[in-house]
Amino acid sequence: MSAGVLAGKVALVTGAGSGIGRATCRILARDGAKVIAADRNLKAAQETVQELGSDRSVALEVDVSSAQSVQSSVAEALKKFQQAPTIVVNSAGITRDGYLLKMPEKDYDDVYGVNLKGTFLVTQAFAKAMIEQKLQNGSIVNLSSIVAKMNNVGQANYAATKAGVISFTEVASKEFGKFGIRVNCILPGYIDTPMVAVVPDSVKQEVVKRCPLGRLGQPEEIAEVIAFLASPQSSYVNGAAIEVTGGLK
Ligand code: NAI
Repeated sequence: MSAGVLAGKVALVTGAGSGIGRATCRILARDGAKVIAADRNLKAAQETVQELGSDRSVALEVDVSSAQSVQSSVAEALKKFQQAPTIVVNSAGITRDGYLLKMPEKDYDDVYGVNLKGTFLVTQAFAKAMIEQKLQNGSIVNLSSIVAKMNNVGQANYAATKAGVISFTEVASKEFGKFGIRVNCILPGYIDTPMVAVVPDSVKQEVVKRCPLGRLGQPEEIAEVIAFLASPQSSYVNGAAIEVTGGLK
């Protein structure tokens, strides 16, 4: 992407304190956007902001699984840059892997709450703000996962939420098109972030062997695609689910 293509835009990124969210903040800021780095872990979001510079970014504490927290984040976000974000990236996500027969209800609920309900709450709240302010050219980017198609053993909760994100994205793209808001999602493969750091080495080696590019992805390689989807250069891309996996299927 070319520098300055997002100048004048405000972006909200959830999960901004780590991995793909943090890399997305970096790339969107490089392309000229002002960035609201939102995370449940405020300290981590503040570290992201420290790296970007406080003139073009601010940190925001939000728990995406809580409607109340998301609601107050809208008010906070509007205060920060006097304008609703027109770029929203739903990168907050968690895993609680385990075999289905042994999966505690809490592990199912927690993953659902952040990955799918969180995507719903943030999308609904910030789309409303964009529509109320009559802002055009909005772009919402959701993080699904290639796991939505691979459906790995031990990931019933995670895989179901990430498949849900694909359907959710498509519905939102149909409902929001008339407001000038595009909604797309990305299915990353295995990306070298703290989320994947806890995956056993043997599993990672197997993934790398099956990946045509023979390596894990870097968070910036997802962030660049997010920046494209956020920019006017993708103006006719809507309701898409884009695999960014190095060819891993
Ligand atoms: P990560 O674990 O490095 O970062 C996730 C961030 O989300 C953390 O900063 C965490 O504090 C924040 N978070 C967790 N729960 C939250 C909540 N309730 N409210 C607000 N923030 C919350 O994860 P990573 O790797 O950056 O993943 C980002 C997204 O990409 C996730 O949705 C993940 O499922 C998805 N993804 C990641 C892949 C990977 O290989 N790393 C592959 C496919 C999808």
